[in-house]
Amino acid sequence: MRILGIETSCDETGIAVYDDEKGLLSHELYSQVKLHADYGGVVPELASRDHVRKIIPLIEKAMEDANTKPTEIDGVAFTQGPGLVGALLVGSSVGRSLAYAWNVPAVGVHHMEGHLLAPMLEDDAPAFPFVALLVSGGHSMLVKVEGIGQYEVLGESIDDAAGEAFDKTAKLLGLDYPGGPLLAKLAEKGEAGHYKFPRPMTDRPGLDFSFSGLKTFAANTIRDADLTGNTDLTEEQVEQTKANIAYAFQEAVVDTLIIKCKRALKQTGMKRLVIAGGVSANTMLRAEMKALMQELKGEVFYPSLAYCTDNGAMIAYAGMQRLKAGETLALSSQAKPRWPLDTLTAI
Ligand code: KG4
Ligand code: ZN
Repeated sequence: MRILGIETSCDETGIAVYDDEKGLLSHELYSQVKLHADYGGVVPELASRDHVRKIIPLIEKAMEDANTKPTEIDGVAFTQGPGLVGALLVGSSVGRSLAYAWNVPAVGVHHMEGHLLAPMLEDDAPAFPFVALLVSGGHSMLVKVEGIGQYEVLGESIDDAAGEAFDKTAKLLGLDYPGGPLLAKLAEKGEAGHYKFPRPMTDRPGLDFSFSGLKTFAANTIRDADLTGNTDLTEEQVEQTKANIAYAFQEAVVDTLIIKCKRALKQTGMKRLVIAGGVSANTMLRAEMKALMQELKGEVFYPSLAYCTDNGAMIAYAGMQRLKAGETLALSSQAKPRWPLDTLTAI
């Protein structure tokens, strides 16, 4: 069976063709990062319009690269939610129209299920059950996963998502949008031990996260360091101080995630951990999680870097699993800007 996958929940147009025997046949991605950079964040209306411009050429390219004719497609999967409603509507309108025209089923995919299953695209895919840490720009959650659609949310962020905290702190440090990867790069030049950020909500039981305090702590630290217009500091000293702050911020986020993952594994008695979503691309997080799982004699799984951030491949994969289980979408179905992960049906 072969499926076309479409992702348009935020600021990336992702298209992929996936075959359940041959694997991923093609994968196209257009990032709108440059379009939104001037505004310091995603402008929903601009995002929707740009998806409209890019989606058809990308589908044509993905079909061509996969050497696939429409008659060889058995279903069309698209991100049905959660996400920006206008952006979701572009993918769902195109996806459902193509499914109707090609006379194949349409499948609505939950964006976070896409992230969660993305490591399944790798050669060393994890077996069920496992604990998943989903850390993206819009969500941070720990999920007990018994199988596809069998998700128990163990904890989630009560305010900013981990990626959002990275982006906001990066902005405070004068970095462009989206600042997460840029902050991580700056942190590589940072030295440990200069600043100590808090590890939010680790001093009490539970698996929820809170990251908005870290952004405030960063704002105060930057203000106290008096970096703008301070003639006593050389340019290099200003840069080094920023790098040290970036390091301490990243260390605090990673440490907090480690503490919560350790707790979740203990609570569930599981030995397998999956980390997915944009922040799972973070090098420090990957290294520290690897060390943790060595210590716990367990295993950790990630998607490859291309499938950590938003992409069509993860939607095609998740869509294929649901299509094979006989799940299809009515023509009247709507985009779901809000859609709790634990309401999905088990397959
Ligand atoms: O999963 P994703 O592409 O989009 C959402 O579903 O939100 O995640 C994007 C988020 C952004 O906040 C971005 O700054 C963050 O992932 N991110 C990173 C890194 N790469 C992407 N954060 C920290 N370190 C990175 N290397
Ligand atoms: Zn995402």
